[in-house]
Amino acid sequence: MMKKTLVLKVDPQRPELDKIRLAASLIRKGDLVAFPTETVYGLGADAFNPKAVLKLFKAKRRPLDNPPIVHVADSESVWPLAKEVSPSAQRLMEQFWPGPLTLILKRSELVPDMTVAGLDTIAVRMPKHNVALALIRESGCPVAAPSANLAGKPSPTSAEHVSADLDGRIDAVLDAGPTVVGIESTVLDMTVDPPEVLRPGGTTYELLESFLGEVKLNPIAVADKSLSLEKVKSPGLKHKHYAPDADVVVVEGRLPAVVAKVNALARNYRFRGRKVGVLSTDETKQEYTADIVKSLGSRDDLASVARNLFRLLRDFDNAGVDIIIAEAVPAEGLGLAVMNRLRKAAGYKIVRAELPARTQTE
Ligand code: TXA
Ligand code: MG
Repeated sequence: MMKKTLVLKVDPQRPELDKIRLAASLIRKGDLVAFPTETVYGLGADAFNPKAVLKLFKAKRRPLDNPPIVHVADSESVWPLAKEVSPSAQRLMEQFWPGPLTLILKRSELVPDMTVAGLDTIAVRMPKHNVALALIRESGCPVAAPSANLAGKPSPTSAEHVSADLDGRIDAVLDAGPTVVGIESTVLDMTVDPPEVLRPGGTTYELLESFLGEVKLNPIAVADKSLSLEKVKSPGLKHKHYAPDADVVVVEGRLPAVVAKVNALARNYRFRGRKVGVLSTDETKQEYTADIVKSLGSRDDLASVARNLFRLLRDFDNAGVDIIIAEAVPAEGLGLAVMNRLRKAAGYKIVRAELPARTQTE
């Protein structure tokens, strides 16, 4: 099962054609190649080759009922994959592609069952990254690509993260440095009316709403506890996700109360001999006492918070912390996706912080 994984460093803006051609030749012969997108690194296989897609699932140790997103280099390439592309799906592609928006459409019969895990729908997206687009074009086929991490781990935002999880399990990695968005694409179900966000991500709900007029938000996308499986529409939503090795607790509430609660929890865990990491923001970083304190960036810059989230979760693991106490951020804009990932990483261990009445009236 172990193989030599080829690492190819490429220029993110102007990828070297010889390296892209080599990677594309691997995709064409049914091998697995990890590549950067604007969101996270994906693990690519020829979407029309069921054997290659099966290898994808195995390399990631991903349950076979959870289909990958199929990546295209232009919107025309969606037509053969879908039974129909509605006018509003077309308008979304025009407006938001290339970019972090995945559309769920009715699938065509051309697509192998393996690629869609037997569903009658397909997830498609055109990534906004020159390396990804060059790879798809040179491969000459749509590229099925889930995030390039082991199932359950935080998604990879650099080639180093990919190697940490998948070295020896895949054929090659195109390394173009860290990704820009840092969380995955928004998954929007276009088979229902109004369209429904199944996974919040790099394209904000607010932006979709102002463009479409009406958009639903699947309850699981904003859940603060695990919901029963019948309610789960997107297969990936029911599986364990984004979890570092360390335990995670999220503290939610008004900021001063959150700071006090995080410190109280940190003190408690340290007293019990556990190595504690605090995931903070620039505004609060100085206020914490723990073994390691890291900042996601400013609370006013949720793009930076999103960009840093998965990397910092992995950094805490590498530093050997036992527990990560994470400060919640506002669940608006990109913060909605951040909070969705954080709550899942915590397995919905959420602590609500409230100021003692005395302090509130002071
Ligand atoms: O940003 C991203 O979306 C990254 C990069 C590599 O493009 N990809 C990614 O893929 O996150 P993955 O496979 O890790 O997540 C795809 C999500 C899963 O939650 C899966 O269940 C859902 O999309 N999905 C795939 N096909 C679906 C379908 N037909 N209906 C509903 N959900 C689907
Ligand atoms: Mg994933």
